Amino acid sequence: MKWFKALNKIQIPNSDSIKTVEVNGKQLCIINNDNKITATQSYCPHAGGHFSGGWCKNGNLICPIHRWEYSLTTGRGAEGQGDYINIYPTELREDGLYVGFEESWWNKLWS
Ligand code: FES
Repeated sequence: MKWFKALNKIQIPNSDSIKTVEVNGKQLCIINNDNKITATQSYCPHAGGHFSGGWCKNGNLICPIHRWEYSLTTGRGAEGQGDYINIYPTELREDGLYVGFEESWWNKLWS
């Protein structure tokens, strides 16, 4: 796992808000749901809606376009959707919020 700094502490979104950031060349949404921070992919797998306009309900992220729901814990879509979103591990450190990325076999081979 490789960790990259996403935000300074002061930039972390307030409770029940969503911020879009670019980390390690990927656009992510940093979501504060009841003061629990989650990092997800930024686009909805259904039809490409941007989660920055979404909101949280009962531990799920709601896409603003067609209101499909994704678990903020597992990334799984609600029953019947048959899809999922990527959830990235986060770590709050002294100097800010970090997001972890799995290292691919390709990166390991060449680093
Ligand atoms: S684009 Fe997200 S629910 Fe349709």
